[in-house]
Amino acid sequence: MDLVRFESFYYRYKGNEEYTLNNINLKIEGNDSKFILLAGETGSGKTSLIRCMNGLIPQFYAGFYRGKVEIRGKNTIETPIADLSTEVGIVFQNPENQLISMNVEHEIAFGLENLGVPPKEILSRIKQTASLTEIEDILDKAPFELSGGEQQRVAIASILVLEPKILILDEPTALLDPYMANKIINLLQEIRREKNITILISEHRLDLILPFIEQIILMKKGIIVEHDSCEKVINGENFQRLRLNKPVIFSIFNQLKKENLYNKNIPISISEAIKTLKI
Ligand SMILES: Nc1ncnc2c1ncn2[C@@H]1O[C@H](COP(=O)(O)OP(=O)(O)OP(=O)(O)O)[C@@H](O)[C@H]1O
Ligand SMILES: [Mg+2]
Repeated sequence: MDLVRFESFYYRYKGNEEYTLNNINLKIEGNDSKFILLAGETGSGKTSLIRCMNGLIPQFYAGFYRGKVEIRGKNTIETPIADLSTEVGIVFQNPENQLISMNVEHEIAFGLENLGVPPKEILSRIKQTASLTEIEDILDKAPFELSGGEQQRVAIASILVLEPKILILDEPTALLDPYMANKIINLLQEIRREKNITILISEHRLDLILPFIEQIILMKKGIIVEHDSCEKVINGENFQRLRLNKPVIFSIFNQLKKENLYNKNIPISISEAIKTLKI
């Protein structure tokens, strides 16, 4: 069964004249775990697309829609948001808005208590998730006492503990310095390995994330212009044209290609660049 399926989906926020999402057809297969990047210029509709995946659009954000969105066969228009929360876990950009409890442990337990998970299982899941996200030492702190990076890890833990089939993160490093951003991306790698789940991330720091990415979804003005393997997308015209924060290594090899000094696929990391130059 497909993890995510959009069929000819259109959406316009109430009060806006233009459609924010235009004829979205998207399929994310559920057979194996993948690391997928959602990229596009600012205002292209990435956050809106993500809001569709747990029913916030159209259940919470009033507007007009047409077409269908399904998460593991569940229609997001009819399925209560709470029932979708065990299928899709979403971490939004500003963790502060997402953290509501008095301390971190309660924060992580909150979703499980709402789902009626037995207390013993809650404790064991918290322990396991806290260890994976490296927040064991801050479980008794209040969310507002934490640094940005810690808050983001707690937000990820509180979603992960619900054991979603797909973890979605909307610019999780936007408020972090490069060191912390790197740590969050490494954590996502670790989660992927441990949990074997699909991760979809909207992220502007392409230099940090691209080396781990298998598929890219490219958006422009509310349209998905391309969805393919990382290699194909970054070597294609759309990626070239969009105003994205391209990695330095991409820009160097792209220029070399234009000047006929290089004719293979553009690498996305230093190690890959060295490999292609050796062959
Ligand atoms: N709650 C809302 N009400 C009305 N319009 C909205 C709302 N949220 C987003 N929009 C509009 O929808 C369009 C797409 O916005 P969205 O936030 O989905 O883009 P984005 O690709 O996530 O941008 P960014 O990279 O800046 O985060 C924009 O024109 C925006 O103004
Ligand atoms: Mg956004």
